[in-house]
Amino acid sequence: MIKVGGSLGAEMAGACADIAELAGQGGEVVVVHGGGAEADRLAAELGRPARTMTARNGRHSRYTDAPALDALAMAMLGRLKPALVTALSRAGVRAVGLSGIDGSLVTARRTPPARVVVDGVERVVRDDFSGRIHEVVPDLLVTLLGGGYVPVVSPPALDPAGGMLNVDADRFAARLSVALAADWLIILSNVPGLLRDPADPTSLVTEVPCEELSRHLNDAGGRMKVKLQSAAEAFLTGVPHVVLADGRQDSPVLAARAGAGTTFVKGTSR
Ligand SMILES: Nc1ncnc2c1ncn2[C@@H]1O[C@H](COP(=O)(O)OP(=O)(O)O)[C@@H](O)[C@H]1O
Ligand SMILES: [Mg+2]
Repeated sequence: MIKVGGSLGAEMAGACADIAELAGQGGEVVVVHGGGAEADRLAAELGRPARTMTARNGRHSRYTDAPALDALAMAMLGRLKPALVTALSRAGVRAVGLSGIDGSLVTARRTPPARVVVDGVERVVRDDFSGRIHEVVPDLLVTLLGGGYVPVVSPPALDPAGGMLNVDADRFAARLSVALAADWLIILSNVPGLLRDPADPTSLVTEVPCEELSRHLNDAGGRMKVKLQSAAEAFLTGVPHVVLADGRQDSPVLAARAGAGTTFVKGTSR
């Protein structure tokens, strides 16, 4: 399972080449992508800039009202996915683009209304279309993998009550890797891995032992926190090899498999 961050933008050539190599050797590869940054760009182009809501605990999240969900789906399914599928096809991969709604692959439960701050005003938001992943039924992916295809999957997820829900792409990748009993979950982003100091790219944390997870979760801020949580969830639920690595290099997937980036390990640090 390889998750490519939306933060990578056009810097995905190295990852595509590695995916082609692994798939060419008969490896079963699933690609997950996000798209928050592209959704923000598209929303701005459409003249309805993305908005953020801030919860009482200070946590920021995307305010996914109906127009924002529309922009998100357009960005992920209309721009990023075809770009990734064509790049993979060019590298010789039989890539198939899907989202959580296809084949009821990923269902989510809608986040209940919450009192948050939007645009500086405190109010109860009832029109947010985001949720938490409820269930992953990976049959469709198993079928495609069996046929030699490389599924390229992303949010949104399916709301059993009807419609789509935005869910976090790192959590999406983590839950899929667990459901598929993947050997590897490699999360590629635009940083070398988990950094002790986000401003210092040389401050890489090379290993996160389970016992030190809560400390790292406390220290990690912003968008690294959910990435770390997702990776840890996959590792603790049985994915044996979980890595956060830099997607911008030449051979990022092979490098991650060889020990680059931040690796999750059992026990305490040595
Ligand atoms: N401790 C940290 N280590 C690494 N990155 C961090 C850390 N804290 C915050 N970040 C930020 O998290 C970003 C990666 O998350 P995100 O932008 O969501 O990427 P992606 O699109 O790959 O999910 C980095 O570019 C960095 O700015
Ligand atoms: Mg992210």
